Amino acid sequence: MLRSLFVFGGIVSLQYLLLEGLTVHSIHTQHFTLKNKALLPVVQGGMGVGVSAHRLAGSVAQLGGLGTISSVDLRRHHADLMQRCAQDSSKATINECNLIALDREIKAAKALSQGRGAIAVNIMKAVEAYPEYVRQACESGADAIVVGAGLPLDLPDLAADYPDVALIPILSDARGIQLVLRKWQRKNRLPDAIVIESPKFAAGHLGLADLGNMDNDNYQFEVALQQTTAVFEKMDLAPIPLIVAGGIHRPEQVQQLLAAGASAVQLGSAFAVTEEGDAHPNFKQVLVQAEPDDIVTFMSVAGLPARAVRTPWLDSYLHKESKLQQVATPRDCSEGFDCLAFCGLRDGVAKSGQFCIDRQLGYALVGDIARGLFFRGSEVLPFGKRIAPVKELMDYLLGVLPLRPQAI
Ligand SMILES: Cc1cc2nc3c(=O)[nH]c(=O)nc-3n(C[C@H](O)[C@H](O)[C@H](O)COP(=O)(O)O)c2cc1C
Repeated sequence: MLRSLFVFGGIVSLQYLLLEGLTVHSIHTQHFTLKNKALLPVVQGGMGVGVSAHRLAGSVAQLGGLGTISSVDLRRHHADLMQRCAQDSSKATINECNLIALDREIKAAKALSQGRGAIAVNIMKAVEAYPEYVRQACESGADAIVVGAGLPLDLPDLAADYPDVALIPILSDARGIQLVLRKWQRKNRLPDAIVIESPKFAAGHLGLADLGNMDNDNYQFEVALQQTTAVFEKMDLAPIPLIVAGGIHRPEQVQQLLAAGASAVQLGSAFAVTEEGDAHPNFKQVLVQAEPDDIVTFMSVAGLPARAVRTPWLDSYLHKESKLQQVATPRDCSEGFDCLAFCGLRDGVAKSGQFCIDRQLGYALVGDIARGLFFRGSEVLPFGKRIAPVKELMDYLLGVLPLRPQAI
């Protein structure tokens, strides 16, 4: 039984929360503000290819959160567009179909959200069609653009005609944040929020050049939050909401990070395996069944390290990686659309990965366990091997459910 619930201003205070004889910890959930929208402090991160599309992002937004659609290769969710690309596999047609798919997904997510929360679009700077994706996302009504996998120094220019769209860079430490702030300030624009993603724990591409540098103190959330606050002070800027991402899976962590100065936390892997996650059920099973030793970091074709589950394809690729790197040589894009601006396979760069990332991520999306590439963070999942609805995950992280869910 809920004994009392106070709501005042932007702060919801759940206190003296009792569930039929079971005491639940109390929380003070601050909303964070993004372009005048008050949002829950648990954010769903963007996940490509197709893992976070309209259903996941729209479901999170419907609850009052920030749901994020990943923009990469969304045509894969639309049979008619895939058919069109099969008939005409030119780069222009594939790019056009992806923009049509992005438009459809944003509109569907907005409809699902019923005007609540906000819909962001995640766009990788490393993707060749990044400027087109930014323009399309703005035009189609995204509330925010979130850019990682590279420094989005030109984002204010690309979104200049859409001042109401929030701009959110993803960075790993205060040094990178300061660099972006300095460059953007010269363009009279500042980020509306900043994601600080930990290379030590996060899934997918990691924001560091050298894997050996992963344990650097500057990537610790508390350190990064403190140093970033010092940057704001040094630059005489009002505080910008900071969203920390990577390895977060318990409500106590959420509370600690909010107390340490974060405005919100962002999760990826935990949302990917929710009922509403847009990938095939097999995709979710691969993520939830992975043991800690199954999760590895390796060099992606994008020239950045990445973290994923060591599935049969990744295992066999890693065994032959050094041989493939020795024979790396420039070639045409095997999928014909140059998804990445820099691709180690296409450009023949030996120190990068030597596989087609779009194809492997596409296999994962449709649940091909043998051939897919399955990104996952290093830490345990909130509900262990259980697939739960988005609402249960949000409630748990926000402290509305008992501390230890009967889960695993
Ligand atoms: C399957 C998967 C795909 C991802 N793809 C992207 C992506 O395309 N762009 C991006 O910025 N982050 C991507 N991420 C990272 C998430 O947005 C999030 O920041 C990260 O997963 C947080 O770490 P966690 O998984 O430990 O919660 C991906 C994560 C997963 C699990």
